Amino acid sequence: MAKVSKKTTAQGTPKYTVPGLTPEDGARVAALLQDRLNALTDLHLTLKHIHWNVVGPYFIAVHEMLDPQVDSVREMSDTVAERIATLGLSPKGTPGALVADRPWDDYSIGRAGAIEHLGALDLVYAGVIQDHRKAIEATDDLDLVTQDMLIGQAGLLEQYHWFVRAHLETAGGELATAGASSEVEAKERGGRAARR
Ligand SMILES: [Fe+2]
Repeated sequence: MAKVSKKTTAQGTPKYTVPGLTPEDGARVAALLQDRLNALTDLHLTLKHIHWNVVGPYFIAVHEMLDPQVDSVREMSDTVAERIATLGLSPKGTPGALVADRPWDDYSIGRAGAIEHLGALDLVYAGVIQDHRKAIEATDDLDLVTQDMLIGQAGLLEQYHWFVRAHLETAGGELATAGASSEVEAKERGGRAARR
């Protein structure tokens, strides 16, 4: 489950950074971005995992809905990693570094119904978006170019989150996953809603 990150990754001070930023501020921005890179890489891998593991009614709709999200989030990872390099630091993109750095647990659902997965994915997107918004706030005084990049990504992530939530919503606007505090709980609530 994607929880709110508590940790930023120290990468040292760069020998150079973008003009107009101090090397120290470049390092601060890069540390924020390394955490976002970890979250986005984790997200596009998790989206593929769900694409492979959905079963039952709505299989093909959800299976096919997820691939454009995988491609888009993968592109976001690339943009964030290249921004870290632009700032004069080394982006860490290996699976081992990601697992060692991330403060959240691996996605916990295997083969399951499409709406059950979307229940769990609702929580995953919520965690990633919450952290993206924190990074947007943190870059307000640091680097508006990075902030602009993150704002564009957050808009897309929020749209994909809506695609997921629309499957879990009643005509009255209530979410089946409201109040769920874990992926398993959200999955079960999604499953119950699909059977109604
Ligand atoms: Fe596929």
